[in-house]
Amino acid sequence: MSKVTVTAPANIAFIKYWGARDLDRAIPCTPSISMTLRACCSRTTVAFEPNAPGEDEVRIRKSNGELKEPDAGFRDRARQHLDRLRDWAGRTGRFRMATQNSFPSAAGLASSASGFSALTLAAVRAMEQDASPAQLSVLARRSGSGSAARSVMGGYVRWPSNGEEGAAEQLAPADHWDLRDVIAIVETSPKKVPSREGHRRAPTSPFFETRLDHMDDRLEGVQSALMEREMSTLGRVVEEEAIELHLIAMSSRPPIFYWAPETLAVLSAIRTWREEGVAAYATMDAGANVHVICPASDEPRVAERLDRLSAVHEIIRDGVGTGPTFEPDHLF
Ligand code: DP6
Repeated sequence: MSKVTVTAPANIAFIKYWGARDLDRAIPCTPSISMTLRACCSRTTVAFEPNAPGEDEVRIRKSNGELKEPDAGFRDRARQHLDRLRDWAGRTGRFRMATQNSFPSAAGLASSASGFSALTLAAVRAMEQDASPAQLSVLARRSGSGSAARSVMGGYVRWPSNGEEGAAEQLAPADHWDLRDVIAIVETSPKKVPSREGHRRAPTSPFFETRLDHMDDRLEGVQSALMEREMSTLGRVVEEEAIELHLIAMSSRPPIFYWAPETLAVLSAIRTWREEGVAAYATMDAGANVHVICPASDEPRVAERLDRLSAVHEIIRDGVGTGPTFEPDHLF
């Protein structure tokens, strides 16, 4: 039996994956661009017992170290992914896995990108298979979490890189630009409508076609601003893009509202701070929390100001990271 532990980070998309050509296989309508994080991570241990019979064991490790049974939805999704990985490797045997998030799960932050990236890397290594980063990206995507395809790489990542079924590709390593993401937690309950349902409804928005029309220009704008390290150009487009995702969600049939009143309070405060000379730009995923992107030099001011807002429950200070790592210590 071999046992492998991987820590894999979450990522924050500058250009979002929203709307799929094939939802089950997570084939997106348009490419996305993200920054891999370093503090918000999933740590996952996988043990593989070749030829052993029985169902795969899926557990969650609590912050006090105890292992507990996950809910049925999580357990089934993890087992389905383990089945796919076993088929891919052409192996028979039983997996045992446990996973833990570094960020508070009550914070309503997406953990599937980090979780499925960690699970994919650990299971492939536990079966003693070799896979390139591109193969790992495609395997992680097959979990149904498209954003997991980006979390197998560090720094700044584009997915898919060529052809809609392609893998993610690193645009620049983490040391290219020390950007920070100060996450303002305004809502602690899990999101009401999962991303999967958001993807499904996106094409029903009358504005979805318009989004597709200008997507090439926006991708080009974000990619070149990233390469040139132009904060104000990047920030402006990233903020527009996040607002557009929510515009599409709010105009889908039936509509989805992810924002809370506190989301608007944070967005409004950020606009004021920019007028005062703070380089801070907002982006939001399928939830009410606000990710504030800023250069390292502005992070202390951004964090201090967000902390003082009554709309903000807590903040998480994160930044660009180098990607998944294999760990010597296991969760069980
Ligand atoms: C709004 O289908 O990857 O975060 O599986 O729930 O993580 P999960 O979502 P996924 O869609 C991501 C939606 C998004 C935008 C993005 O990260 O690109």
